[in-house]
Amino acid sequence: MKGIICYCSGSGNTQLASRYIVGKLKNIEFDLFNIITDGNPALEKYDVVGFATFTNFLSVPYILQTFIEKLPQQNNKPAFVFNTYGFMSGRTLRILEKLVAAKGFLVIAGHSLHMPESYPPMIVSGRGNEQAPDEKEMKNFNKYISGLDQLICELDRGNELRRAKIRPGLLNSLLPAFSITKARDDMGEKYVDEHLCTECGLCEKLCPYKAVKCSPKPVFDMNKCYGCWTCYNHCPERAIYTAKYRGVGHYPQPISQLKEKLKV
Ligand SMILES: Cc1cc2nc3c(=O)[nH]c(=O)nc-3n(C[C@H](O)[C@H](O)[C@H](O)COP(=O)(O)O)c2cc1C
Ligand code: SF4
Ligand code: SF4
Repeated sequence: MKGIICYCSGSGNTQLASRYIVGKLKNIEFDLFNIITDGNPALEKYDVVGFATFTNFLSVPYILQTFIEKLPQQNNKPAFVFNTYGFMSGRTLRILEKLVAAKGFLVIAGHSLHMPESYPPMIVSGRGNEQAPDEKEMKNFNKYISGLDQLICELDRGNELRRAKIRPGLLNSLLPAFSITKARDDMGEKYVDEHLCTECGLCEKLCPYKAVKCSPKPVFDMNKCYGCWTCYNHCPERAIYTAKYRGVGHYPQPISQLKEKLKV
């Protein structure tokens, strides 16, 4: 038996959590697959598939939605879903489950994990959640992983698995589903401080939506941008800014407290 986790991570929190899951699962070996950089996964080689994402405006990032939609139709291949969030998940896990189930996967488990914020406006407003996940949240996360391990054992023994009930909780289920362009509209136009920019090209390389062209300074295509803040967060010179945010709130990678908690 072999598994794969296909993850979508802007700043590394979800990647770190996916690594943690892989490290903790005892009964099966897993590969990690970055849906933004790794192309197409050969899913036929795997018995179980995990889908992991960060929460993007109370939903699944557009790039992961299109990634799942393009996968070949499955015939009840077992899958699990997982999301990280900084404040409130909304229906993200449920939306992810629906996308995965529509592709013919059998969703056997799902979990949401509270994490430090990667969304600069939240960090600037003092809601960076650097302490997350707390002890109880880590305990629940570990419980989810051992439950998953048990399910995989069952699968290995040839037992049939049941579809999991994914419930986002009352408060989360009351939250609205935003339109796919809401994040773009909220972020607005992006600008570059020409004195700070070293023309390194990283923003073009990292933009998941190919909305940046460096020639040699970056130019942004608002029609392609989905407001993910990756260019803003990752620019090594902090040269990218918006009408409201300049030089503040960057989250380029998981903070050290989180790395410590998710060490395997
Ligand atoms: C553009 C953007 C939108 C976000 N929207 C939400 C949200 O609606 N709810 C939430 O709880 N966290 C939200 N977050 C926070 C991230 O989901 C959270 O910090 C996550 O752990 C980041 O994972 P990553 O480092 O793998 O990208 C958002 C972050 C970004 C960059
Ligand atoms: S990542 Fe920053 S420094 Fe590099 S090209 Fe883009 S704006 Fe310039
Ligand atoms: S231009 Fe920046 S904010 Fe827009 S999609 Fe690309 S990386 Fe994300």
